[in-house]
Amino acid sequence: MQPNPSSPGSSADGIVVVKDVEKSYPLGEIMVHAVRGVSFSIQKGEFSALAGPSGSGKTTILNMIGCVDTPSKGEIIIAGQNTSGLKDKELTKLRLFKVGFIFQTFNLVPVLTAYQNVEFPLLLQKNVPKAERERRVNMYLEKVGLKDKMMHRPNELSGGQRQRVAIARALVTEPAIVLADEPTANLDSQTGQEILDLMSSLNENDGTTFIFSTHDHNVISRAHKVLWLVDGRLADPKGRIA
Ligand SMILES: Nc1ncnc2c1ncn2[C@@H]1O[C@H](COP(=O)(O)OP(=O)(O)O)[C@@H](O)[C@H]1O
Ligand SMILES: [Mg+2]
Repeated sequence: MQPNPSSPGSSADGIVVVKDVEKSYPLGEIMVHAVRGVSFSIQKGEFSALAGPSGSGKTTILNMIGCVDTPSKGEIIIAGQNTSGLKDKELTKLRLFKVGFIFQTFNLVPVLTAYQNVEFPLLLQKNVPKAERERRVNMYLEKVGLKDKMMHRPNELSGGQRQRVAIARALVTEPAIVLADEPTANLDSQTGQEILDLMSSLNENDGTTFIFSTHDHNVISRAHKVLWLVDGRLADPKGRIA
């Protein structure tokens, strides 16, 4: 019998499987239904976009894939591991070893240099020897073109350079997936395209799996696969609910 592609755990599953996921937040007396039943999977090596207007649920979905938030219903499987029912400690471990995050606002630690910001996740992993940390930090700073700025603090760097540091920080643990939540939203359009060029070359050269969210059509057009979101549901490109 052929494996059922929609069955979690089958060989046809991707590096990320999102299955019938819902997320609601209590807001005073009412519930906000941020995600209303979404299913998709991402294969290893894909360069995919979650596209949709503000409030459509992009950040909520990325946060659930990144194990910083948990679904109200449904399940999410990351690199073969079902996240439902995992304890906080296990979710933290999964996040630290399997996921890299890139944020709209860069989220660098202001008092640390570029080098120290990139090294930070390796220190959190605890067991990476110093020589290996040095090798990795230097390699990823080189890949993002910032070796000559490694001793600079974030406030001595431009927006594009800060995002490059954030990309190196996301990649330094060599995670199974890199999530980028509107990575170009605080950059001018040319710098935004350069950041997309960098992510795209890291995807092509190293096979890194990226999922990025955006509402910008110039950014959407760079994705190999686009998941369109409207009001917490997947839709077709014209906004009709799939
Ligand atoms: N912590 C929260 N509490 C209440 N409502 C929330 C919370 N986070 C998100 N929402 C709501 O969920 C919906 C989706 O939000 P979000 O995932 O941030 O969308 P996007 O990233 O596409 O702009 C919005 O209506 C938003 O107001
Ligand atoms: Mg958002």
